[in-house]
Amino acid sequence: MNPLSDRINNLSTSQTLAMAAKARELKAQGKDIISLSLGEPDFNTPDFIKEAAIKAIHENYSTYSPVDGYVELKEAICRKFKRDNNLDYKPANIVVSTGAKQSLYNVCQVMLNPGEECILPAPYWVSYAEMVKMAEAVPVEVPTSVESDFKITPQQLEAAITPKTKLMMFSSPCNPSGSVYSREELTALAKVLEKYPNIYVVSDEIYEHINFSGTFCSIATIPGMFDKTITVNGVAKAFAMTGWRIGYIGAPEFIAKACTKMQGQVTSGANSIAQRATITAVDADPSVLKDMVSAFHSRRDLVVGLLKEIPGVKINVPEGAFYVFPDVSSFFGKTLNGVEIKNADDLSMYLLEHANVATVTGDAFGNPDCIRFSYATSEEILKEALKRIKQALA
Ligand SMILES: Cc1ncc(COP(=O)(O)O)c(C=O)c1O
Repeated sequence: MNPLSDRINNLSTSQTLAMAAKARELKAQGKDIISLSLGEPDFNTPDFIKEAAIKAIHENYSTYSPVDGYVELKEAICRKFKRDNNLDYKPANIVVSTGAKQSLYNVCQVMLNPGEECILPAPYWVSYAEMVKMAEAVPVEVPTSVESDFKITPQQLEAAITPKTKLMMFSSPCNPSGSVYSREELTALAKVLEKYPNIYVVSDEIYEHINFSGTFCSIATIPGMFDKTITVNGVAKAFAMTGWRIGYIGAPEFIAKACTKMQGQVTSGANSIAQRATITAVDADPSVLKDMVSAFHSRRDLVVGLLKEIPGVKINVPEGAFYVFPDVSSFFGKTLNGVEIKNADDLSMYLLEHANVATVTGDAFGNPDCIRFSYATSEEILKEALKRIKQALA
């Protein structure tokens, strides 16, 4: 008998982490693998943030912090929300956690009862569906495609709503599609939600600054949405701080309190040194990120251009984050180099074995027609990866 709980037995392994592990294993065997599977900037944390962490160590920030984060950090986050998003959160609305991942997990735990539904525009970030299931709730996927730039319409949202709907959770810029919802598009979705006062929105804005569209809109700024939105953000992507593990929410006070209660029994406050460094990060003017963002922008253009040259690959032009999510369904049912490609899982595995390039199957993101590549690596490596992929698919 399997002594493990049904909860863990029914949980899917994170496919992005699984693919990264597989790529590492092949590399260790001496294979020349290019890994485009993981979502982290290939930049170093800026020096001024590192200095703040070193200072915090010397100043002995070595004890437990308040569960919801240092008040100085929560105040700095409020300033950031005002400066970048025109959102008027107060420290009581903020909870700092061990990465945006924990912020999202907390929200699912405190908002969802067993059997309640969470709408997930698909493709969605890998962990959303599993977090919903861990709360014994039901993920309701709303499919989109490359033709609609992977965005849902108000009609689709309305059709997905049932008396059991409690949350809608999405990211913009989106991981994996790179799509960015405009203010007009979010206003149209908010118009639908206006009729359902019991539905809350989880707006994951972690890629906010990695955005080439020139505009960014937080759904909480749309009239009527502030009290129904949990805005999630963090420093991992914008400040190349994935390993520091700091994320946060801005939310109605009763939700913030509930997340603090939850976190108080699970992890306590996030890492004290990383929190102190994050004060400096979120207080920095976003213009400090311009070199990194412009590097991502040129890589986006490079990768999209090269993918467009591959017959059978359909692609949108992602406006943000650092992923491309091409539709590769035209290869399904074909045999390449003696390997039958039935679906995106097979194609992703085929590319690993025959092109030595690690990608992630779109299935993990709720879209089985696509695969995801991260372009958070140098242009030279990207050119080589795309050359290999083109050859393997020819
Ligand atoms: C859309 C999205 N949300 C949240 C996270 C998690 O961020 P963190 O590293 O702060 O936990 C990621 C990381 O890949 C992400 O892509």
